Amino acid sequence: MYADGDAEQQPIKSVVFIIAMQAEAAPLIAALGLKQDSPPRIPPPGPCVTYSGSHAGLDVHVVWSGHDNEHNVDLIGTVPASLATYLACQAFNPDLIISAGTAGGFKARGAAIGDVFVSTGKMHHDRRIPLPGFDKQGLGYVESTPTPQLRAALGLKAGIVTSGNSLDYTEQDMQIMNKHGAAVKEMEAAAIAWVAQMFRKPMFCVKAVTDIVDGDRATQEEFLENLNAAAAALQQTLPKISDAQAAEIRALK
Ligand code: ADE
Repeated sequence: MYADGDAEQQPIKSVVFIIAMQAEAAPLIAALGLKQDSPPRIPPPGPCVTYSGSHAGLDVHVVWSGHDNEHNVDLIGTVPASLATYLACQAFNPDLIISAGTAGGFKARGAAIGDVFVSTGKMHHDRRIPLPGFDKQGLGYVESTPTPQLRAALGLKAGIVTSGNSLDYTEQDMQIMNKHGAAVKEMEAAAIAWVAQMFRKPMFCVKAVTDIVDGDRATQEEFLENLNAAAAALQQTLPKISDAQAAEIRALK
């Protein structure tokens, strides 16, 4: 187990939010008055679209993973997320990375629809490699930069965020999520954490709950029903993070 983050003790002046879906990113972009970067800071063929501005004395960038032109949907999942994070680190060299978006929540860990969680750690739940060493690499656990003041001030719940490339889960995925105490399940955070660690950047997640993983409703139905409300909850929370908590964020190591 190892913590992400930077031994170089830089004060935080710039923050990058990595967001997979346009519906999740748009309310935040509007609330912070960010403008799409033109010319693009991540040029084609990189699919990501970036928006920048300043807020509470911080340079803020939203990096949306982009659009899949072949299938005409957003690029969700770990592969586009790791590409977006790599390109964002090169383009912006941010002091802090926040993986923001929606997630399924576990009622066994106290999650309810519309809750906003901050990560204590991130890992994969769908990479099972029963070979010495590769087992742990597959799980890819990365501890999150601690954010105690932020959690307390904004009343956020906290827990382990686990990532996989499916909206549903297999029995084995569920065993891994339970074993490691997953509080929320989504499709990008562990990949973003891996790249953030590569660039030695502090990173944590802020995830709004659209559906209950250990509930009795079909995930896709609950997800679509609550996506806009969860994006609104994110949009309420994220500006306050860089606002009320600018001091803690600047002090994050
Ligand atoms: N995003 C929102 N809900 C999710 C779920 N249940 N699984 C994966 N990603 C999600």
